[in-house]
Amino acid sequence: KKAEIIADKHYLIDEVDPRLYGSFIEQLGRAVYEGIYQPGSPFADEEGFRKDVIDLVREMKVPVVRYPGGNFVSGFRWEDSVGPREERPARAELAWQVIETNAFGLNEFASWAKKADTNVMMAVNLGTRGPEEARNLLEYCNFPGGTYYSDLRKKHGYEKPHDIKLWCLGNEMDGPWQMGHKTAHEYGRTAEETGRLMKMLDPTIETVVCGSSGPTMPTFGAWEDEVLSTCYDQVDYMSLHQYYSNAANDTPDFLAGSVGMDEFISSVVSILDSVKAKKRGKKKINLSFDEWNVWYHSHEADEKLEKWGKAPHQLEDIYNFEDALLVGSLLITLLRHADRVKIACLAQLVNVIAPIMTSDTGAWRQTIFYPFAYTSTYGRGTVLNTLVKGPVYDSKTYGDAPYLDAVLVWKEENEELTLFAVNKDLEEDMEIHCDLRQFAGYTITEHLVLTNDDLKAVNTEAQPDTVAPAKGNTVSLKDGELSGYLTKHSWNMIRMK
Ligand code: AHR
Repeated sequence: KKAEIIADKHYLIDEVDPRLYGSFIEQLGRAVYEGIYQPGSPFADEEGFRKDVIDLVREMKVPVVRYPGGNFVSGFRWEDSVGPREERPARAELAWQVIETNAFGLNEFASWAKKADTNVMMAVNLGTRGPEEARNLLEYCNFPGGTYYSDLRKKHGYEKPHDIKLWCLGNEMDGPWQMGHKTAHEYGRTAEETGRLMKMLDPTIETVVCGSSGPTMPTFGAWEDEVLSTCYDQVDYMSLHQYYSNAANDTPDFLAGSVGMDEFISSVVSILDSVKAKKRGKKKINLSFDEWNVWYHSHEADEKLEKWGKAPHQLEDIYNFEDALLVGSLLITLLRHADRVKIACLAQLVNVIAPIMTSDTGAWRQTIFYPFAYTSTYGRGTVLNTLVKGPVYDSKTYGDAPYLDAVLVWKEENEELTLFAVNKDLEEDMEIHCDLRQFAGYTITEHLVLTNDDLKAVNTEAQPDTVAPAKGNTVSLKDGELSGYLTKHSWNMIRMK
């Protein structure tokens, strides 16, 4: 099969907001305990943070991490998680049916984020709590001093404000599984008042209002419209969440998930812009795709879990090679929408549906780590409006799906151009051509390929490199013509300079 990739250096989508490469740590399973925090471990530093995990997070270049949930946040009493450890209460955590000891809380997370070279994206509880507790939390985190909550932070040993700039107004408030879930009207009003109070206290923050928990929710569309119509003035972004599954073992359909993400983004953009038009608004509401990943491998094991354990092995998906292909494609999709998707969080970061896994004896990279880390590292700059003219296949869930997903990202100041491409064809290589005469003098500096004969191959602690990128040599750039082929079922990164 053949595909033509067409791009023009004057025809741009937008600058990539680095927050597109965000991630997520929820107080859930072994994400915090045994993931980022394990006092007593040989890998732990003086604060109990795992250094091996911090190194891998740095390798992924994650600019922002959402915390502390997720479903967890809708029952979270933030006051439980601060102050002297021995005085912090253990709670029955209803979202995941476990005991939360609160040994790790928000101040520890803020310290961890600094060490991991990242920023905190904090979520407030709008399930069992409301505007008052949210503004108190903001005062604790961001107010310099001289008030009850800012002085309490100082008393707890944190003299300087955490200065958290990005705030989620609740989590998945449309979902019947969510503690304190609401109708669109109820939630729209709560979000409006919470956002208003928070911005009265700290006008420098940005807020993310909850969109639907996914495009298959029965209220999808109507929810976005009513919620945003109610709280437009107080919010800056709307959230999108979507998880992908190959439970049916239909790999072509699974890999077409990027078409699903593309349509989801376009639909939400249309609704947000229609609300703006109805309001004669000046402000464009952008998107925070703050939960996305493959999630299904662990469902069966999770159903058998005993309740009320502490930090159990929960949501521990072991990712295979085809998952990495989809993650690579989803990143391409996010880049192609860089004009409106300003924030995105791979859900999650460590142990819980995560690119990084840990045990008492080490930490290792799951398959999905690689497309994420490389796209995050080199997918920065300006996205070129990349047209892919190539064959499509008929997928069960999404209809026509292209065999080839591709996008070009240009860092003009460094004269670096990077092509990210996924060939989803399970049988055939894909011949590609791309006219790059506008980039005179550029040559290929690196071609990395992630592929494996076994779509279900995984990385384990004993064999951590089964699925890992290797050097590619099937594409050349001569006289401004990029040509060659991308091997069947492969993720590719071609760097040119
Ligand atoms: O990421 C796991 C869960 O998925 C989150 O807690 C929730 O927001 C979503 O349903």
